[in-house]
Amino acid sequence: MANSVVVEKASAPPLPRIERLPEHVAVIMDGNGRWAERRGLSRNDGHRAGAENVRAVIERAAEHGVPMLTLFAFSTENWGRPTAEVDAIMRLGADFIDGHLDELDERGVRVLHIGDPSRLPESLRDRVAGAVRQTAANGRITVNIAFNYGGRADVVQAVRRLVADGAAPDEVTEEAIAGRLWTAGVPDPDLLIRTGAVRRISNFLLWQAAYSEYYFFDGMWPEFDAAEVDRALLDYSKRQRRFGRVPDGADAAT
Ligand code: FPP
Repeated sequence: MANSVVVEKASAPPLPRIERLPEHVAVIMDGNGRWAERRGLSRNDGHRAGAENVRAVIERAAEHGVPMLTLFAFSTENWGRPTAEVDAIMRLGADFIDGHLDELDERGVRVLHIGDPSRLPESLRDRVAGAVRQTAANGRITVNIAFNYGGRADVVQAVRRLVADGAAPDEVTEEAIAGRLWTAGVPDPDLLIRTGAVRRISNFLLWQAAYSEYYFFDGMWPEFDAAEVDRALLDYSKRQRRFGRVPDGADAAT
């Protein structure tokens, strides 16, 4: 294929058994541009390598039995990138669906979209809708693709809908807002992974990640392979989650 980028990958190691798995893993796939620049390639080559990496990560998560994965593919702020890069990412999203939808479907992957579809090019919007339709009955793993997603935009559209629904002040509750977010019906992420060697949330799932555990990978997204998925899940399995409370048995007097 004329445009393909070869990413050398070690074959996946044997699957370790991990005891406490997250129900929902969300991923900020950062670092495609730097990965490419370090190799003398174009940023678009980096995004292509990043898109290729998505399949392996979905498959590894599914093999572990993680029921849900959310992937941040394009943010509401990414429209501010050069037009050629934005167009390339949109095309890659469409190519990814064209090239891999049947395989994902056969592997039991259910695809959902979170974000505002209205600004996406029609070619991508139609493919995303088609992927959601084709995979609706699958149950091995659900993959939410966040395309044109922003955490603040999500809260704003939810509150707008609540107002349009005529909510009185005392009806403005956490449940009423959560039920109108693009993620309505999706459990909050237990684990939020960010690749790319920076530690920030970049307007991803602001409401939903209130009590997520964070995991930062200092490599770039195309380097986040099956072994790294294993490492992130193992790290999560050792964490003690408190949700603002104290551990069971803790005594206030001691
Ligand atoms: C962040 O890297 C990555 C993006 C903004 C785009 C992610 C897109 C894909 C992985 C491809 C399409 C997605 C799917 C689901 C097929 P960056 O460009 O910010 O990297 P940098 O920080 O090194 O510049």
